[in-house]
Amino acid sequence: MSPSTAPGREPIETASRDEIAALQLERLRTTLRHAYERVPHYREKFDSLGIVPEDLKSLADLAKFPFTTKEDLRRTYPFGMFAVPMDDIVRIHASSGTTGKPTVVGYTAKDIDTWAGIMARSIRATGGSRHDIIHVTHGYGLFTGGLGVHYGAERVGCAVVPISGGQTERQVQLIRDFKATMIVGTPSYVLNIVDEFERQGLNPADSTLKRGIFGAEPWGESMRRELETRLGIDAMDLYGLSEVIGPGVAVECIESKDGPTIWEDHFYPEIIDPATGEVLPDGAHGELVFTSLTKEALPVIRYRTKDLTTLLPPTARAFRRMGKITGRSDDMLIIRGVNVFPSQIEELILKTPKLSPHYVLEVSRKGHMDNLGVKVELKPEFADSPDAVRQAAAWELQHHIKSLIGINTRIDVVDTGGIERSAGKAKRIIDLRPKD
Ligand code: DLL
Repeated sequence: MSPSTAPGREPIETASRDEIAALQLERLRTTLRHAYERVPHYREKFDSLGIVPEDLKSLADLAKFPFTTKEDLRRTYPFGMFAVPMDDIVRIHASSGTTGKPTVVGYTAKDIDTWAGIMARSIRATGGSRHDIIHVTHGYGLFTGGLGVHYGAERVGCAVVPISGGQTERQVQLIRDFKATMIVGTPSYVLNIVDEFERQGLNPADSTLKRGIFGAEPWGESMRRELETRLGIDAMDLYGLSEVIGPGVAVECIESKDGPTIWEDHFYPEIIDPATGEVLPDGAHGELVFTSLTKEALPVIRYRTKDLTTLLPPTARAFRRMGKITGRSDDMLIIRGVNVFPSQIEELILKTPKLSPHYVLEVSRKGHMDNLGVKVELKPEFADSPDAVRQAAAWELQHHIKSLIGINTRIDVVDTGGIERSAGKAKRIIDLRPKD
């Protein structure tokens, strides 16, 4: 079906690139002015560079404007970057991060409405409709995942099951009793649910689930195959971050499953060289940067996500896509001079038939050298196998990592349950290096 004849799409999803660019330019101008007039932080930054919002004459001019970082939000904690009076704020979310103060984000009533609309569009793009019963395992609370997806699903008219994370046995029971057709969550937590189906002697592929939307943490093509095969579903990628709005910045369309389509009428994407800040052409790998185009409470100008990926041409919609996130610039490990991302190790674990996708990476330091240990679970069906089976699986993974990534690792194959489970984002790196 060509994009322009498909039902249930908003006109902008099939507009021409010229129309999209014109809308972006107009919205960028409004956003820059709004931020400049209402947020002292932006005014000071623009003034120090000697620029004013009106200097944006074309989309390329955005490169003249300063970046915004998580640090800027932390420095102005909690509400210093808000562009509206507190009386106009109707919702606050926050992300804890690993160190320091949380990052706080706020929404006006109109922002919540915009977000619900974008999330509804995202659910439709993954094949969702009012006929769906949608089981939402993302956390409800300060995390944007649960409530963000929830409002979008209600807007579509789905029956929403706001179960949140945890109580995995009960999740299985409710999916079966309520006959859920869609599931939403982090890929690592939904895998726990899949394991729980099997532990109860049930085949997860026999459930009523047809589609799944996964995000909030990186996951690759091997994880997609694992989820699709074991659950008997179509698995789509949902991307977003609190500072930009939450889930719904980009999503994969069911008809192409070729990387998340960015809702470019609300978020203007750029790819930059993380070291120099230079804007790179589409197709180049670098750090993703977003400028919000329609937000009132917390406009973000050139927000540095630290997520590494590429911008790809449009396919299923008129908007550009992003490649899968290969890692975050702050998650990159340097092991004896070789740059390694957890996602690369994950791909190789999933290609080792006797190993399960439950793993953690342990980074330790001996002298000045960093070492990488991989702790990974054996698949439950091999639990009673002789030690030689475990050793062979460890050797196989070690060999693949050595030959494909180029580093020596210590592999520790543990029993089912040996890796701590998370009900939300999986913690993949345990850093045992001394803090200096
Ligand atoms: O994780 C928002 C979200 C909720 C997205 C539910 C999708 C589903 P934060 O907690 O602020 O917001 O974390 C944002 O998570 O910068 C990425 O590093 C990572 N991330 C989010 N989605 C994906 C994805 C939510 N689909 C940070 N693939 C981002 C890879 C993702 N990484």
